[in-house]
Amino acid sequence: MNVEKIRYNKIGLNYNKTREADKRIVKRIINFLPKSDNNLIADIGAGTGNYSFKIAEANNVIHALEPSEVMQNQKKIHKNINWFSGFAENIPFNDTTYDSVICILAFHHFSDLEKSINEMYRILRTGGNLILFSADPTRGEKDCWIKHYFQPFHQKACKTLPDVNYVKDLIENVFHNNATIYDFVLPGDLKDGFFYSAWKYPEKYLIADHIKPLALDGEMWDINNLQTLCIDCNKIKTKQDKKDIANYKNGKLKIRTEQMKIITYFLIGFST
Ligand SMILES: C[S@@+](CC[C@H](N)C(=O)[O-])C[C@H]1O[C@@H](n2cnc3c(N)ncnc32)[C@H](O)[C@@H]1O
Repeated sequence: MNVEKIRYNKIGLNYNKTREADKRIVKRIINFLPKSDNNLIADIGAGTGNYSFKIAEANNVIHALEPSEVMQNQKKIHKNINWFSGFAENIPFNDTTYDSVICILAFHHFSDLEKSINEMYRILRTGGNLILFSADPTRGEKDCWIKHYFQPFHQKACKTLPDVNYVKDLIENVFHNNATIYDFVLPGDLKDGFFYSAWKYPEKYLIADHIKPLALDGEMWDINNLQTLCIDCNKIKTKQDKKDIANYKNGKLKIRTEQMKIITYFLIGFST
């Protein structure tokens, strides 16, 4: 694949400024791993290794695969992590080798998801498992306030983040086995600042570092909506305690907290 096509070489420059492993996500991943020390795990689309690092700290050995050199330049170093360059569609790892394959908030970037799932299946040992973590914005779409302020972004997210049931079917077809969806209810104070994570704190979207990756996608922003968000957030600061933002009833801020919480999920498949 052409280097210019590696999107994270453009948008990943300060990735670790807003992105870090959240301990609740880490805990769930570790709970899904086979119950032994020294699991051999492939992390596909490992980014800067935020999750690889935490899982390596829990006595597992990680082979982290990442195509973007900009991301790898910010990589976390740990004696249990080996870094590799490459793509999910053509994984440079041996057949039937890994106890688990993890893929965290990454597969929506892959150019061929079916091929990637086949590759993940190929490298898993019999009985090993695939652990995907992602978001499906359509699960929270009904009353999603992000839709109100960031409609172009939200619409694109609905297209790029595949429907969870579509991904489940793909895994089941490739693995010849049932896959299971586990809801991950987004905490209000998630440390990992991916786009939907600040569902309880809209003012975070006005901080340049938080929105920076989106700023590169000019068409994602509707300036009028952004201005409305500024005005609405200011109203909250003057009328309400910031922490109470979710209960704001008086202004125009379209917060529907209960809907936003449920968009993230784990999807687990076992290799036969
Ligand atoms: C949002 S980041 C997530 C990184 C990391 N898993 C985390 O949670 O911090 C998505 C990553 O997927 C990588 N990626 C994009 N296309 C890929 C592909 N075809 N194969 C493997 N990784 C890819 C990007 O370069 C980027 O580092």
